[in-house]
Amino acid sequence: MKPVALTTTKPGFEPQLREELNKIPIKKKILWTPFRGILIVLSSNPYDFLEVVKENKSNLKFLFRLIPLEIECQTDIDEIKKAVLSLINEKKEKLKNKSFVVRCNRRGSHKFTSEDIERVIGRYILDNFKDLNLKVDLKNWDFKINIEILQNKSYISIFYNNFNEFVIEENIRNLKNLKRYVERPLNRSERKMQELMEKFPFIFENLNCVVDIGSAPGGWAKMLSKKAKKVYAIDTGELKVKAKNIIHIKKRAEDVDFEKDIDEEIDLITNDTNLYPDESIFLTLKFAKYLKSGGYIIHTLKARNLETKKEDLNQVLKILDQYKNIELFKIINLKANTKNELTLILKKL
Ligand SMILES: C[S@@+](CC[C@H](N)C(=O)[O-])C[C@H]1O[C@@H](n2cnc3c(N)ncnc32)[C@H](O)[C@@H]1O
Repeated sequence: MKPVALTTTKPGFEPQLREELNKIPIKKKILWTPFRGILIVLSSNPYDFLEVVKENKSNLKFLFRLIPLEIECQTDIDEIKKAVLSLINEKKEKLKNKSFVVRCNRRGSHKFTSEDIERVIGRYILDNFKDLNLKVDLKNWDFKINIEILQNKSYISIFYNNFNEFVIEENIRNLKNLKRYVERPLNRSERKMQELMEKFPFIFENLNCVVDIGSAPGGWAKMLSKKAKKVYAIDTGELKVKAKNIIHIKKRAEDVDFEKDIDEEIDLITNDTNLYPDESIFLTLKFAKYLKSGGYIIHTLKARNLETKKEDLNQVLKILDQYKNIELFKIINLKANTKNELTLILKKL
């Protein structure tokens, strides 16, 4: 399978779009992206996927736009040129004597603008396909070279006739005011917690006091506050959630004075800080002293990078090994974890 479509929805409604797309009858995989409102679909080819989506339009209320993708490459001007070259060569016969436009939608931070890419690629096509007798026409083009950039990945397509961006205006209109009526959907952190709550409901039963380390903006704290009497949310950052039972300790976890700031037995510790693996586990262990016996710890291990993931896990397990009253209950790779993350569930004996 390869990337065949970039799909968009209202930011925050990605889980709903994913659920709908999962139901349409074609083999596919839906990937989250770091960009709000955008999911990438993997399947066998963009043409069939586009057709199936059109046929199932009435079941896709959260889909705003589908942009078919033909070739994926690194976000590098020479790589993009190579991809454009191979696509045009593939479709050469259809493109002779036609007018074209290059359009680029860029997401992420780069040294160049979308217009820079459009200009460079337009020039490149004119210079390299003189035999096709092409001309640029920004308005009444016959085909469009479409370039979607998502940080370090770029996706190139040639839109021609019916193979084009598919927009459902009706959905855009209908969803405009939706947030008035439904609770704001989950961000990625919340999805991690939701998955944990679904898989291990017993961890979240009868909770009095939860300590959430590295809590901002507050996705976990929000979900935990529905299960526990009190959530101590430790973070120097601002919380974007409010609940009567969330107590924001606006400090680094290292600086929390347990007796002064909390001073009650903890039922559950959660830690999602973006610190180095050893620093983060030591913070968890600082609070584990005050965890009740039989209480659980949910700890996100964030490896320094993909290559060090195993080494980082081993380092953390070695540290934990020295704490005889803390048992490793499970290591789990949650769907909403990034590639560098693993979730450790620990239990105090
Ligand atoms: C990925 S975010 C946590 C997201 C959170 N679980 C949620 O659901 O919204 C990581 C947080 O860890 C916090 N953090 C990093 N180092 C910290 C420390 N030493 N003490 C407390 N919080 C820390 C950062 O400020 C950041 O807000």
